[in-house]
Amino acid sequence: MVTTSVSKYTQPNPFDHPERQWPSRSITTSPIWVSVDLRDGNQALPNPLNPRQKLEYFKLLCQIGFKNIEVAFPSASQDDFDFTRRLIDEDLIPDDVFIMALTQCRDHLIDRTFEAIRGIRQCIFHAYLATSDLHIRQVFDLTPQQTLQVAVDSVTRIRKGVESMPDSDIRLEFSPEEFTDTDLDYSLEVCKAVYKAWGRATPEKPLILNLPATVERRPPNQYADMIELFCKHFPYPENVLISLHAHNDQGMAVAATEMALLAGAQRVEGTLFGHGERTGNVDLVVVANNFFARGIPTGLDFSDLPRIAETVERLTGMPIHYRAPYAGEYVFTAFSGSHQDAIRKGMNQLDSAPKKFGVGWKVPYLHVDPTDLGRKYESLIRINSQSGKGGVVWVLEQEYGLQPPRAMHPEIGAAIQDYADEVGREVSSSEVKMVFDQVFVNPAGPYVLKGYWPRPDKHDPDKIHGEIHMSIDGTEHKVSADGNGPVSAFVCGLEKLGLKGFSVDDYHEQALGKGADATAVAYVPLKFAGNGVLFGVGEGTNIDQAAVRAIVAGLNRWAGKKK
Ligand code: KIV
Ligand code: ZN
Repeated sequence: MVTTSVSKYTQPNPFDHPERQWPSRSITTSPIWVSVDLRDGNQALPNPLNPRQKLEYFKLLCQIGFKNIEVAFPSASQDDFDFTRRLIDEDLIPDDVFIMALTQCRDHLIDRTFEAIRGIRQCIFHAYLATSDLHIRQVFDLTPQQTLQVAVDSVTRIRKGVESMPDSDIRLEFSPEEFTDTDLDYSLEVCKAVYKAWGRATPEKPLILNLPATVERRPPNQYADMIELFCKHFPYPENVLISLHAHNDQGMAVAATEMALLAGAQRVEGTLFGHGERTGNVDLVVVANNFFARGIPTGLDFSDLPRIAETVERLTGMPIHYRAPYAGEYVFTAFSGSHQDAIRKGMNQLDSAPKKFGVGWKVPYLHVDPTDLGRKYESLIRINSQSGKGGVVWVLEQEYGLQPPRAMHPEIGAAIQDYADEVGREVSSSEVKMVFDQVFVNPAGPYVLKGYWPRPDKHDPDKIHGEIHMSIDGTEHKVSADGNGPVSAFVCGLEKLGLKGFSVDDYHEQALGKGADATAVAYVPLKFAGNGVLFGVGEGTNIDQAAVRAIVAGLNRWAGKKK
């Protein structure tokens, strides 16, 4: 038997930081968004993107609005090198975009990266070096002092390279890899030394210090503490940009990023839909849309998220989870009856939200308006055996324009539920309509209306003479009757045919469509003495014809129930 041992693990060291400020702050502006899809994301794909796919992805990132895009690790593969060169040689980088090229702090890799970016207008040269004790001792077999020296030597080399390209605007980003597993004082020491070796940081062209949670080993509040302490103790805050780079090993990268932004970071690296090593990088679709949902402009355009999702799925070959926030197929869908009912009510009263709640959008169970992300209202509610009348009526309303009266909703809900129980799966909108038609509009039964001709009396405009042609159990009947309206004349005629014991006290009508093509729909409750109410629904070119057809539908339902 396999045994697991929790005693192998321990709490990460917390930080002595009683004067922490970040928990009581709130985010009011967006950070600089940085896509690392084409590097961190691509490195982690079972089938890395080919050059054509990379270019399509790059264009997508530009369209979304990213201004910092890490395009490659040019010294790590020929493909990445060629892709960087292609962007430059074919002038494919928009004027306001800084591409980033990643390299380890190793001389030959730095030199190769310079070859890759030669002639570029502007870019970010991103150098990284692991600073954690774990890496220093186990991977590099160096001392902390030797590691610091590697950082300084590398940055000095990069500075010289940059100085040899005076026509290019090249900024430096330095990442102490495994920052969250590194002694904070040591990270500060390394970053200060890097700052000095670079010697070019200004408020206009700040040094980017990217402080990654390379592996998520700590809870989000500790990442925030580390960032706040780092910002507090770094002596040149005006000349640096503090950047975040969270991975999602414990599933908390979004929370860690948001808290670390509260703690003072100004820039966020991540990927669309959280692609990246292992559990991935922080999902920028989620972080940015969280901001959007709080009314903070993001500068990123996710107004056609389904297209973005479809493109990324196709390029990466990896599907997006059904429940991925914002993008997942089911994330704006309610299956359960009580949720559907509440959503329907909220949606129908949306116009009153500003007055009642002081916001433009306040709907039960939906924190954002799906249409802001290119999603549709129709799919808000999907039907299965858990669904209720509210959901079913929503489908009829939204997709077919029907407005059945409230009193009819329980009957409609029950009819669809019976069907859903029978088929034992999700029920499509067209099936909902099919069942509605079968049960309420055209129920099978003994009564078939062949025609009804209501005519006003020549002398008394309040009086109607009606003529009914109807077959009952296959036998044709013709009958005339009078009433004070077309419906009452029809009911009177039915009485003459022996159809008694019910009354039509009121009915609900609507027009479906517009102008000359409009159809009238009537929802008629037939009250059966001592036996409750049954609704019938009729459609016609005018409301009188619709109403009498609805009555016949109700009678057929009644006949079916009596069997
Ligand atoms: O996760 C990480 O630490 C990285 C660095 C290269 C920034 O990807
Ligand atoms: Zn990473």
